[in-house]
Amino acid sequence: MRKLLVTGGAGFIGCNFVHHWVQKNPGDRVVVLDALTYAGNAASLDSLRAKASFRFVHGDICDTDLVTNLLDGEGIDTLVHFAAESHVDRSILGPDAFIRTNIIGTHSLLTAARKTWLRDGAARPHRFHHVSTDEVYGSLGPEDPAFSETTAYAPNSPYSASKAASDHLVRSYHHTYGLEVTTSNCSNNYGPFHFPEKLIPLVIVNLLDGRAVPVYGDGKNIRDWLHVSDHCAAIEAILQRGKPGEVYNVGGRAESTNIDLVRMLCAIADAEFTRDAALRERFPKSPAARAESCAKLITYVRDRPGHDRRYAIDCSKIQAQLGFVAETKLEEGLLETFRWFVSNEAWWRGIMDGSYQRWIDAQYSRTPSSNLQSEPNS
Ligand code: NAD
Ligand code: TYD
Repeated sequence: MRKLLVTGGAGFIGCNFVHHWVQKNPGDRVVVLDALTYAGNAASLDSLRAKASFRFVHGDICDTDLVTNLLDGEGIDTLVHFAAESHVDRSILGPDAFIRTNIIGTHSLLTAARKTWLRDGAARPHRFHHVSTDEVYGSLGPEDPAFSETTAYAPNSPYSASKAASDHLVRSYHHTYGLEVTTSNCSNNYGPFHFPEKLIPLVIVNLLDGRAVPVYGDGKNIRDWLHVSDHCAAIEAILQRGKPGEVYNVGGRAESTNIDLVRMLCAIADAEFTRDAALRERFPKSPAARAESCAKLITYVRDRPGHDRRYAIDCSKIQAQLGFVAETKLEEGLLETFRWFVSNEAWWRGIMDGSYQRWIDAQYSRTPSSNLQSEPNS
């Protein structure tokens, strides 16, 4: 039986992981530590509240005393670290919070882990798993080989630079102090509970409400999409069979340009509205409610500064060593995600509050109206 501390467990991937773990390992103790920033939503964990084995702690990973007390007091043996500032666009507008949480916060957790687990030179059984991103490797050209665990780091945004720094700190605590760490660097996730400021959930809620769907630049940037349930299964495999000190890349083998992805979502919305009269009633502002194609909402906007062109993950190591392969096909995962947002309208409406609206206004009003167009500049 394990005792887990999950940081950032009220965020998108963290809450999916907590649900996954509790379902697979009902006997384990799971403590979530989350500061509930704009991206954290305690409601995502509501269904677990009544379980005696589950505890939610509202707190900051930078508070080393709080973390040390939790590790000690709860007898934690496994720390799974998701907590982060995670949105590239926000890191461009305001990098400070990224340095604080992603670098100082990760170091705070390492300090607490070392203090608790390596006390008096006698190591207690433990694992520190650090969740990181493929963005630390930089940007690929169209013919470049996918990122492997030995690709040199070349982060390009304040977000990816802060994650790269945290990866190095985690690595150093293994080599210097013997802390039993593992790290996973994964590609873009999507699925339930995704905060609607990232591409896929933003597109889905905008299609439902008939708002413009913003595509940056020429829409030809490529991401490798991984369903969050596959990511959770990969982390589980790493915790169970991964080797301390090792790094594992996790990808979905599902590369897509942004514009192709957005068009797939538009086609899904069109088909779902055609199939289901209730959708036409519930979301009358969607073009699909009037039998028009959602693709008319696609709007090319000014590009993100320093926008990485392509990410792709070589996930052969985790497949060969831990037997993990992502199972969800992109088209199926997108349809399932679209349906999840349709069925969980209260969840996303509940978080699109004043601060969300201010972010959307600030981010998308920076686009000069002359750049709002239905086809990109050549
Ligand atoms: P998210 O933004 O949805 O959630 C982050 C969570 O961390 C939120 O619940 C937030 O309240 C919490 N948090 C932020 N600052 C905190 C602090 N100082 N103390 C405690 N909690 C704090 O992010 P996500 O998409 O779920 O990403 C989770 C992890 O996975 C991150 O480390 C991210 O870098 C990594 N990752 C994400 C993706 C992706 O596609 N979303 C891809 C690769 C890696
Ligand atoms: P995002 O979901 O922010 O993830 P990341 O930047 O970590 O890859 O963006 C995914 C891709 O979609 C990225 O190339 C930027 C692009 N994008 C848009 O074209 N329009 C948008 O409104 C957003 C949020 C992202």
